[in-house]
Amino acid sequence: MPGAFESHGLVAEVGDKRHQGPLAGLLPWFTKYFSWLSDGRSANADAMAYDYDKLYGETRDALGKPTSVFVDFFVQLDQQNVRVLDIGCGQGRDAIFIARKGHRVVGVDISTNGIRDLKAVAARENLPIEGVVADTATYEPDGMFDIVLIDRTLHMLVRSARLSTLKTMLDHVNEQGWLLIADEASNIGDFGSVISAHEATWQTEFSRRGFLFVRRS
Ligand SMILES: C[S@@+](CC[C@H](N)C(=O)[O-])C[C@H]1O[C@@H](n2cnc3c(N)ncnc32)[C@H](O)[C@@H]1O
Repeated sequence: MPGAFESHGLVAEVGDKRHQGPLAGLLPWFTKYFSWLSDGRSANADAMAYDYDKLYGETRDALGKPTSVFVDFFVQLDQQNVRVLDIGCGQGRDAIFIARKGHRVVGVDISTNGIRDLKAVAARENLPIEGVVADTATYEPDGMFDIVLIDRTLHMLVRSARLSTLKTMLDHVNEQGWLLIADEASNIGDFGSVISAHEATWQTEFSRRGFLFVRRS
């Protein structure tokens, strides 16, 4: 089991990218749309309506490096070739990193541009990634997964869809498998309630502001 995770701030991660010259123009966007990750305020209406498909259509690697807390998790994972579901994968910054570590990934996003970019990298590098264009609110995963990862996607959904999506994803985690969530800090309590009400038993293995990693017994 992965052990201690480094306490990287998400805004600091974004900062890694935004200080790179070519993307300096994205600084205001990151500051606006990711501010909730640093100060815990609710995502505003603009963020809820943000057009990621347009962003991906205009910008390669729009969200930068994979999220460092997830990187730490997969670096420390002692299992090989696990099956991973990345919900709201975007252009695949996490999915591509995970597949490069030798795991099989299904990436799902409502953005056709995001999935197009994900598939292009997978084809170029011959990575075991399947890309699916779907709305997570109605998407039913195909089979069971060792790890379901949801990196800052649930806050994009209205509350009822957010909670029903989470419930659906819990149903698709194998015994001893993991659900890894990064989201708005104020949503984490809701997620805990859905997980507690689920038919399986779940152990909280990592909980920090904006992150919740649970494992199925
Ligand atoms: C903040 S981005 C995070 C993307 C990716 N997880 C990452 O960390 O790079 C939120 C993602 O959720 C996707 N999304 C929003 N609503 C969705 C929905 N109803 N179904 C599927 N994906 C959705 C967006 O297209 C976007 O790629």
